[in-house]
Amino acid sequence: MNTDFWSQDEIPEWGLFLYKTHFLEDDAATRTLGEEVGNSVKDGEIVGLVGELGAGKTTFMQGFVRAFSIPSEEVGSPTYSLVNEYRGSKTVYHLDLYRLENLEDLESVGYWDYFDLGGVICVEWINKLPRSWQKKGHLIAILHKEKGRELRWFRTALS
Ligand SMILES: Nc1ncnc2c1ncn2[C@@H]1O[C@H](COP(=O)(O)OP(=O)(O)OP(=O)(O)O)[C@@H](O)[C@H]1O
Ligand SMILES: [Mg+2]
Repeated sequence: MNTDFWSQDEIPEWGLFLYKTHFLEDDAATRTLGEEVGNSVKDGEIVGLVGELGAGKTTFMQGFVRAFSIPSEEVGSPTYSLVNEYRGSKTVYHLDLYRLENLEDLESVGYWDYFDLGGVICVEWINKLPRSWQKKGHLIAILHKEKGRELRWFRTALS
């Protein structure tokens, strides 16, 4: 399944609708928006990140963690570690599915266990394994646009 987050405004199979679109002129703008999303995440919601290599998913996370009083410098790329853990007002679990192939891989990294820990779960390349999506939360799609980026913020129903 190759979901088109770039042109569709509603993704029924993920329960998502387009909430806001932003043009991000530089890294700082990507971080600022990340912090805004961090401040709007509620308990039990997941944050999925999609976008090609170098889109700015990890940069977004550097801003996102600030919403939980975690310094941006703690954020690294989990492409090889698979999951990074940052402790602040809440613990943020930062995962990357880029190197995973199937649902067994998801099991073997203990993916489902993170949902019982009461932290915030953020998943880069969530579109690689759509079954990892949890039906409640935010989906951030980032694409190159001129010298900056376009960011499309999808949400499930607003509560
Ligand atoms: N709004 C922006 N405008 C211009 N450059 C940006 C913007 N946001 C991030 N970047 C730059 O894009 C590059 C890639 O960013 P980043 O590592 O966050 O991407 P990524 O999506 O996590 O990549 P990967 O898929 O490899 O993990 C970095 O050099 C970053 O500074
Ligand atoms: Mg990254």
